[in-house]
Amino acid sequence: MRKMCVSGKSVCILYVIVTYMLWANNAVVVDELLIQVTNTLDNGSLNLSVTCPKIASASHLILPGKYYQWLFSGDITPANQPFLCTFQWPGASHSFNMYDPSRDSDCQECNWRIAEKGPCRLRFPSKSLTCYNWI
Ligand SMILES: *[C@@H]1O[C@H](CO)[C@@H](O)[C@H](O)[C@H]1NC(C)=O
Ligand SMILES: *[C@@H]1O[C@H](CO)[C@@H](O)[C@H](O)[C@H]1NC(C)=O
Repeated sequence: MRKMCVSGKSVCILYVIVTYMLWANNAVVVDELLIQVTNTLDNGSLNLSVTCPKIASASHLILPGKYYQWLFSGDITPANQPFLCTFQWPGASHSFNMYDPSRDSDCQECNWRIAEKGPCRLRFPSKSLTCYNWI
């Protein structure tokens, strides 16, 4: 990096800007991220359909009280948000990003529970739920 700076002022400035953008964009490379989604709609009486288009065009049917899991390795950036997904059940369709590096860097196994009001993430070891609004 030092060499880049010595070779010319503009290169040095560019380097600083790129570093800043990576930081500001919360770009991360994750290794073995597990995302689990549990259907807790209506106390267990509605089917939930989850679609994550960046991962697969097919949707997943999650029966009442059941869960679905994704194992993911790779880049997560504002331009590539693999867990920006759509959640649908009779009469409703919502979106949510289940892995935002600035919010979820504390989980490698992220356990989401989907309820009507929004997704809640189970935190360990306290087993408390942190809930969010649909986007
Ligand atoms: C789920 O069950 C709880 C406890 O029985 C009840 O208070 C709540 O209103 C129920 N929620 C729905 C969406 O039916
Ligand atoms: C959920 O989906 C399954 C499989 O398609 C279906 O058999 C079941 O009746 C559905 N349950 C509800 C509550 O809609």
